[in-house]
Amino acid sequence: MFDNVQSAPPDPILGLTDAWRADPNPGKVNLGVGIYQDANGLSPVLACVKAAEAAILSEERTKNYLPISGDPEFGRSVERLLFKGWESEADNRIFTAHTPGGTGALRVGAELIRDLGANGSAWVSTPTWANHKGVLAAAGFSLRDYPYFDPLTRRVDATALLDTLKAVPANELVVLHAACHNPSGADPDPDLWGAIARVASQAGWIPFLDNAYLGFGQGLDADRSALGSFLRAGVDFLVATSFSKNLGLYRERVGALTVVSGNARARDAVFSRAKKVIRVIYSNPPSHGGEIARRILSDAVLGDLWRRELQTMRERIQTMRTAWVQGMNERKVSTDFSFVTRQIGMFSLSGLTGEQVAWLKAAKSLYMTSDGRMNIAGLTLANLGAVCDAIAECLRR
Ligand code: LMR
Repeated sequence: MFDNVQSAPPDPILGLTDAWRADPNPGKVNLGVGIYQDANGLSPVLACVKAAEAAILSEERTKNYLPISGDPEFGRSVERLLFKGWESEADNRIFTAHTPGGTGALRVGAELIRDLGANGSAWVSTPTWANHKGVLAAAGFSLRDYPYFDPLTRRVDATALLDTLKAVPANELVVLHAACHNPSGADPDPDLWGAIARVASQAGWIPFLDNAYLGFGQGLDADRSALGSFLRAGVDFLVATSFSKNLGLYRERVGALTVVSGNARARDAVFSRAKKVIRVIYSNPPSHGGEIARRILSDAVLGDLWRRELQTMRERIQTMRTAWVQGMNERKVSTDFSFVTRQIGMFSLSGLTGEQVAWLKAAKSLYMTSDGRMNIAGLTLANLGAVCDAIAECLRR
């Protein structure tokens, strides 16, 4: 059976890290995968996570299974994080399941919507995270694209976006990035989120918010603008939250699928169907990462520590955006890169072509995804000069 199997191509993001690891050049730089690095180029365990883990080690009494949807207190703490202040709109409409990472939440949500009888198409932004299409296709959806980012203005193309979303048929799935659009770093403003939510309500399509970068834009509260808009619009929607980035829990695989229904009866029925979906994929979630998140989200002292650590990460990325643009200006390149400083989150779509990205990898051991996405969180004062030199040389060729 295996003798004639054809190899699959490497993953466009995680495969890049494998190639970077294998690169013997000591000056290699990885701006590919979206991982936060500190000023020393490390991705350390947050202090709030260390404290929560120490408590788990001394207090944990069993390795018994969790419920299919995880610890209910984990779910409640995620719901408070997402919807605090909007209790009257949210009450009795919501359930949350702890999933293995944000990717797990996307897959469970997609399988759930298919199981509930959604029409065949799922819509993703142009451009979008490379794995969205794979996850949705694996759940049986055919893929459609909606316009999002205008490469000329380097902003969200609000008119084209709304025009397309108005024409999306009812009961089709539309994946939106809740904050810090990956890969562009360009987000709708609160007014545009309100308009998108109204379109969803009128057209009847199902919003699925990928919430992987909460806290990396303007902060934990401001980054909930999309969530609030859909909640207030009264539509049914789903949220896939990841704690990989904002709690630095990448390898612990901790995420959450939150589903917002119209009323308590609908919520209970959909929740029961979600548990059936989960049961046949991974049965119930791994405890450790969810327990870390639960403790941090439900403890005032750990929660404050987390907010400060998240702020430090967010501000360092902003500093590196400014430093990189300044570095490019000093090298007198013809492109005006000032747009990079107004983008948010970890990424920027640099405008570099696939060919230029390939040259940077082969000639300079500088890694980024083939769409020209740069992980700004991978820049440090130690690698900044070499990165700017390499890109300036590339642009002059
Ligand atoms: C990314 O976009 O680089 C991250 O979300 C990591 C991943 O899983 O692709």
